[in-house]
Amino acid sequence: MSHTSAPVPLTSAAGSPLKGTIRVPGDKSISHRSLMFGALAVGRTTVLGLLESEDVLATADAMRAVGAKIEKQDDGSYTVDGIGLGSLLEPEGVIDFGNAGTGVRLTMGIFGSHNIAATFVGDASLSKRPMGRVLDPLREMGTNVIARDGDRLPASIRGAEQALPITYRVPMPSAQVKSAVLLAGLNAPGVTTVIEPIATRDHTEKMLKGFGADISVSLNEAGERVIKLTGQPELKPQDIDVPADPSSAAFPIVAALIVPGSDVTIENVMLNEHRTGIITTLIEMGGDIELLNKRSAGGEEVADIRVKHSLLKGITVPAKRAPSMIDEYPVLAIAAAFAEGDTFMLGLEELRVKESDRLAAVARGLEANGIPCVETEDTLTVTGGASDIGGGTVVTHLDHRIAMSFLILGIAAHKPVTVDDGAVIATSFPTFTSLFEELGAKISANSSEAA
Ligand code: S3P
Repeated sequence: MSHTSAPVPLTSAAGSPLKGTIRVPGDKSISHRSLMFGALAVGRTTVLGLLESEDVLATADAMRAVGAKIEKQDDGSYTVDGIGLGSLLEPEGVIDFGNAGTGVRLTMGIFGSHNIAATFVGDASLSKRPMGRVLDPLREMGTNVIARDGDRLPASIRGAEQALPITYRVPMPSAQVKSAVLLAGLNAPGVTTVIEPIATRDHTEKMLKGFGADISVSLNEAGERVIKLTGQPELKPQDIDVPADPSSAAFPIVAALIVPGSDVTIENVMLNEHRTGIITTLIEMGGDIELLNKRSAGGEEVADIRVKHSLLKGITVPAKRAPSMIDEYPVLAIAAAFAEGDTFMLGLEELRVKESDRLAAVARGLEANGIPCVETEDTLTVTGGASDIGGGTVVTHLDHRIAMSFLILGIAAHKPVTVDDGAVIATSFPTFTSLFEELGAKISANSSEAA
């Protein structure tokens, strides 16, 4: 069901311990990039384990609109017949990215150095999010842009006829911005350089190398990552096996930690060092989390993660860890509600510009459920161990991670928790409810049933 349809309130309630072995869907970042880079290669890329969520399917449509042929095969894999870098066709209609920030920002990068015109739209959440962080460097590279005030969607671009390779220092820790510049650099003659003062997820760099791009990463004297990409390579199609998304795995991990008696294993989860801050943090809080059967798959380390119910304690989560767990603060706040003492989270300014103002959305959701917290411009402190928590209705603001996090609260709280819209979960984790039901959780569209 599309999140643009009528909202579907969902309610979760405490029940039995969570038990079982599950597989969460493929990684969202890698899924988007598989389709994009496959479209830019010449020949057939095969993708196993693609995340079939609304966000990723929007990217598939965008790549089809410029000429790629993307099909689901009988064995569940996807094939992408790429049209080749430099050969993108001009899309006929507007490109609707729905809720997908990664999809639209990276695609703007790709289109920005192709001599085509395109108009991008999104849902109410995406239309509020800042696009200037991507459009500004693209303008420097020669892309023409017409956007709504404040560089919001809808936005139209005409890509540069001959893009200029630039040197760009990313002003905020954002893999989306880094990636948009690199992807524009792909079709610019010469070397595009991106300087990243704070390291963020490196899927673009790793995957572009796999597709045959000439890309190098080094550290300068100041310890900043310097990424150099030589433009106009011929990208070679790849066979990609998408590992499970650690950001989705975070939900069953936290749920198992806070529901007494639980013992859950999540298989084949990616352990990329720029994505695992949540695991480090939960282990520091006293979580019983084992990384089993560690192995390498498709250039990434993966493991099966076994989690048992644990007595957690509050800690300080340092600002420097934020980029490696940027999407996991909402669910960490739920874990913190069950920890002894205060959990103090620093360096959260980027949460203000996610699918919602996530810092405010989390704080209001906690308050609605009797959990004490203090929100500042860029920090959140959650006091754990309150009695009689739950019973509130949480406003999700079209934010999938707010919806899922507060449903996790409900399955461990004293009273059921309702989220005003669960349909938005389909943007990243369409099997969320069914997987949790498999583990024994009670999540229902009918609040009286769940209660
Ligand atoms: C992503 C980067 C992050 C993250 C998003 C996925 C990516 O966004 O929050 O869910 O795939 O590059 P920012 O780059 O804005 O931090």
